[in-house]
Amino acid sequence: MDLNPLLPNNGDITLITKISGTGSALPAKILTNADLAILVDTSDEWITSRTGIKERRIAVDGEYTSTFAVEAARQALSMAGILPEELDLIILGTVTPDFPFPSTACIIQKELGAHKAVAFDISAACSGFIYGLSIADSFIRSGRSKKALIIGSEVLSRVVDWNDRNTCILFGDGAGAVVVEASEDQSGIVSTHIFSDGTCWDLLYQPGSGSRNPAGIHATDPNLFFIRMEGNEVYKHAVRAMEEAAMAALNANGLTASDISLLIPHQANRRIIDAITKRLDLDADKVFINLHRYGNTSSASIPIALDEANRQGRIKPGDLLLLDAFGGGFTYGSALIRW
Ligand code: UT7
Repeated sequence: MDLNPLLPNNGDITLITKISGTGSALPAKILTNADLAILVDTSDEWITSRTGIKERRIAVDGEYTSTFAVEAARQALSMAGILPEELDLIILGTVTPDFPFPSTACIIQKELGAHKAVAFDISAACSGFIYGLSIADSFIRSGRSKKALIIGSEVLSRVVDWNDRNTCILFGDGAGAVVVEASEDQSGIVSTHIFSDGTCWDLLYQPGSGSRNPAGIHATDPNLFFIRMEGNEVYKHAVRAMEEAAMAALNANGLTASDISLLIPHQANRRIIDAITKRLDLDADKVFINLHRYGNTSSASIPIALDEANRQGRIKPGDLLLLDAFGGGFTYGSALIRW
């Protein structure tokens, strides 16, 4: 049976980017809505009804973005049956790197012993994993890479203002990873679509630590190092942009939402996910949701959800998956995958 009539076939050397392993890693420490209600003026009822989030994971001393990234990567490599030294590309999506430089991907490269790989970070906020997947797909289709690791990892708890109830209830820490390989199989990444809209960059950003507000001058104002977000505005853009990215994937491949086996959306807010499900006219049971347990983990949210769906047996060979992301920048994008 032709499992994937959607993939191009121009003879016997069509290279497809196949996902051969997934992994995820979360801090052990859990912060519940009840815990947050002690810190700020909020309630489990408000957080649950406005966001769907019940709890999130928080890194403790000695745990960094690279800590979770390495653990998620090891799981993905183990599932794929690949040694770190076989990797030729490592891409990390993150807005909370271990340091502004060097790239955290280089730290991960060292920890894994992936000495042959080119390693770099990309800053695309919550779309970082989809951007990374899209770049890796281009490298593999062009023959520049054969075995790549794409990770989304964040420790957002270190850039959240724990006195600001508008933002501190939303975010969590963790990492997800995939290993992709050049394959001549019928399954793999069908298409990726990535977009940017810089007109609204200041609706969601971190003012400090870059060249505009360097620590030397502004070190006395810790507020500069916290996430700033116009939640209401971001919400409206998120719904529109995620619908646009999903439709780009469907239209480019002559599909409708009914062809999708499972939608894995960015896990920012249950109401955003429900609005997209409705706009796409998708059955609710075809949407993977885990944000009640982890909150918004930015670039890590989609690969963590993908790994959980995979390990729970929610994805079967031949299934058509749609990954759909939105984040600060604004950045947004989708990936269509024949499993
Ligand atoms: O990762 C991608 C980027 N991020 C997102 O996609 C997040 C997008 N935005 C959102 O998810 C939502 O806008 C929020 C969850 C952040 C906020 O929900 P909302 O329904 O848009 O609430 P709001 O900001 O309009 O606030 C409504 C009220 C306000 O009170 P007043 O002014 O009406 O008296 C807020 O002060 O709720 C108040 N409020 C809270 N009350 C209790 C805001 N945060 C809280 C809180 N607990 N934690």
